[in-house]
Amino acid sequence: MPFSNCFFRFTEKASVFECGDGFYSVIWVTNFRGSGWVTYTFEGKEYKVNDQRGGNIRSNDTIHSVRVPKEHLNGNTYRYHSQYVAFKFGYSAIKGVTISSPEIKFKGEPAGDKTDVLVLSDIHGDLPPCESAVDCFKGDYDLLVLNGDISSSIVFKKDFTDKVLGFAYIFSKGEIPVAYTRGNHETRGSFASEVPAYFGTKTGGLYFTFRHGPLFAAVLDTGEDKPDDHIEYSGLVDYQAYIDGETQWLNGLRKDESDGILYRAAFAHMPDVNSRFGNNWNPALEKLGTQVVISGHTHSFELHSKYNSEAKFITVIEGGKISKGDFGFIACRFTFAPGGAVRALAYDKDKNKVADEMIEI
Ligand SMILES: [Fe+2]
Repeated sequence: MPFSNCFFRFTEKASVFECGDGFYSVIWVTNFRGSGWVTYTFEGKEYKVNDQRGGNIRSNDTIHSVRVPKEHLNGNTYRYHSQYVAFKFGYSAIKGVTISSPEIKFKGEPAGDKTDVLVLSDIHGDLPPCESAVDCFKGDYDLLVLNGDISSSIVFKKDFTDKVLGFAYIFSKGEIPVAYTRGNHETRGSFASEVPAYFGTKTGGLYFTFRHGPLFAAVLDTGEDKPDDHIEYSGLVDYQAYIDGETQWLNGLRKDESDGILYRAAFAHMPDVNSRFGNNWNPALEKLGTQVVISGHTHSFELHSKYNSEAKFITVIEGGKISKGDFGFIACRFTFAPGGAVRALAYDKDKNKVADEMIEI
């Protein structure tokens, strides 16, 4: 089975996304529509997991998403496959070539008491300065967080596939997990409404909690940055209802007391989590034991921000595209390790070290 074919090929290679509830969603893209599945062997048993919805194998789309239990993939190898499907009739289908990826070794969760988390936000589609800053880490991170505004809008499908999925692969190679936090710009445009379904969360929204070795994390969707009736949204958003639902979900969560959790963080594109469409998320985040909220959005780098100063957790702004000065882009890696502090190491697009600081959490 070929990796690509002159007719049918992978246009974005697979990334492995956190989606909550002990699952990953493996997501990739082909140039034409077709089916998708992931194969691996776990505890001696061979698995073939399909991209299916309600029992039907999805064949009408170029984006393929397969939900796999985390324990099956951690420290394992996997392959992903797609078959071209021209059309599925009532009682037959016209199908073509099948393509398969090589075997990919997936690192999964760190086993020890330390994890390195690279957090990137506000790329706004401009990859080179971000890539230059990320180069400084030489691939030394266990988890990638795309913390929103990776694209400046999601008008077309390709805004999502080329930027969000494409950049996820560039910085993860499908070998480490990725957590995607939606930014306010990624709520904009015609295809934006299609995006949440690809991540296969149980909540149906782009919000969930996940475990990554010693780290417990909440991924929050802060939605739009202006009220629903703002002229820019043409009366075609309802973030009030969506964020109210997310708040209900967040308020219903209990603190995870599972063995091995040493650190508790939340990722939210916008830092003002105390004011989301009239909802204050701070009490719920405190109840979860959150130590640090890591945000972007402001196009600044602030390890000691004033956001949520009344809360028991700290809020940091990890950089991204920087509006002031000549930094261009700042990429920050957070190292969670014993000692009561998180190490923030940051580089700019010119590969200057911007910070190497222990922040108390
Ligand atoms: Fe933003």
